[in-house]
This record gives sequence, structure tokens and C-alpha cells, in this order.
Amino acid sequence: MSDWTEQSSQTYRDIADVAVPRRQEMTASLIAAAPFGAAEPLKIVELGSGDGRLAEALLTVFPRATLTALDGSESMRAEASRRLALFGDRARVAAFDVAALDWWDRMFGADLIVSSLCLHHLNDAKKQYLYKAAAERLSPRGALLIADLIDPQHPASRTLAADQWDAHARQQADALGAPDLYQRFLAERWNHFRFPHDMDKPSALFHHLIWLRHAGFTSVDCCWLNAGHAVFGGFKQAGASAAPLRADS
Ligand SMILES: C[S@@+](CC[C@H](N)C(=O)[O-])C[C@H]1O[C@@H](n2cnc3c(N)ncnc32)[C@H](O)[C@@H]1O
Repeated sequence: MSDWTEQSSQTYRDIADVAVPRRQEMTASLIAAAPFGAAEPLKIVELGSGDGRLAEALLTVFPRATLTALDGSESMRAEASRRLALFGDRARVAAFDVAALDWWDRMFGADLIVSSLCLHHLNDAKKQYLYKAAAERLSPRGALLIADLIDPQHPASRTLAADQWDAHARQQADALGAPDLYQRFLAERWNHFRFPHDMDKPSALFHHLIWLRHAGFTSVDCCWLNAGHAVFGGFKQAGASAAPLRADS
């Protein structure tokens, strides 16, 4: 599983509420972008599901959905299995290596493929192959929605992303009454824009959108962006277009 270790899983679980900028808002944006009504039966696949929080939120918002949560970390799968047990056979948790190809057919017939903070472990070429594989396997109404680190292209935007990330981490630690978690965030050198690590390979948002379009998604969008973290994705169906804004509205 690339360079992500069980120690990385433990560290992430310890500091995620501080280390992920506006985590709830990011997750809520991803779920709100899913182009489905709450009562629809859906097949969802999650890539790099961690301890299962996004899966839990999706299964709650879409009560007729089933979800397969895939992750490479044994402790993360154990946490996710515990968290998702109340959903019975609507939730499944399984092992995968996101960089391998042997799990791709799990995406067959999915209506929604989601991933939060995992795909930046793939290099540019593997992201492109994955987007194509997802587009080919999703149902005709399907969507691939991703929340992830992106790679700011200009030094000024990179500095801004780094500063915003630290500021969110500090604020979130203060709000939790846990300043030690901010110190841990700093000590772990978690801010990729200050301390790039070989295992993290975020790509430019512009490239993601082009790759999704080339993969066969009809509409591609970024729905949320903060501190170098973005929610973006591709939709196989274009959907009805919104009325253009009037100049006097
Ligand atoms: C930063 S955590 C994000 C977890 C969760 N999606 C969230 O948003 O809270 C990254 C997740 O990706 C998983 N992961 C990292 N590299 C992986 C790989 N090569 N194959 C499968 N899973 C991987 C880790 O086990 C971990 O659960």
C-alpha cells in the first residue's frame, strides 16, 4: 500500500478533525453534489474510505443506497466496519490497493463513486487511467465525486493554500479546546504545501477537470475549494442547464 502505513492511519485518526480544513463543509459539499434524489436506490463505491465517516453520511442521506467501502489499511477497515455495522448489508467493507487494477470491476454498475483524501497517492498517469476506468464502469446516470488535495500552480496560490491550511488547523484545534492537536499537526509536518512528501502527488485542479472530460464525463465541475483542498468530479449525464443569470437579477 504505497508509503501509507498503519502508523499513518493512527496519526490521521488522531488529528483529522484539526488537520482537514473545514472537514464537515467539504464532506457536505461532496454529498450535495451527488445528482440523485434522497429516495433513489443507489449503488455507491468509496475509494479510500478510512474510518467510514463519509460512508456513514452517504448511507444516512440516501437511505435506499448500498455502499462498498474500500481501503488498504486494516485498522481503517476495522473502524469503518464498526461504524457502518448499523447499516447491515447496505454496507460492505473490503481491502484494496488504489494503485492496483484488480479491484476496478467493483465499480461496474455503480451510480456514484466517491473518494476523500486518497487519490492524491496516485501519480498523474494512474489518476487518468482510474478516471477512464470509472467512466466506463459507472451506470449511465453515474458520477465520480472527489474531495482531495490539489496542486496550486502559482507560488502565490501555494503560499495562500499553506497559510490557510495552518490557520484552519489552529482555529479547529482552538474550537475543540485541543491546542495540542495543532502542535501535533505541526510536528507531523502534515501541511503538504510546506512539507511535500513523496507519497503525496496532488495534481492541478485544471488537469483533473481535463482528465475527467477526456475520460468521458459529460459535465465536470469544482464545487468547493479551500486551503488547497477541493471537491470536484465528473457527471456522465449533462443534466438540465440552469437558466442564465439576468443582469438585473
Ligand atoms: C487521509 S486518509 C482519508 C480517509 C477518509 N477517506 C477521510 O476522508 O477521512 C487516506 C486513506 O487512504 C488510504 N490509503 C492510502 N494509500 C492507499 C493505497 N495505496 N491503497 C488503498 N488505500 C490507501 C488510507 O488507508 C486512508 O484510509
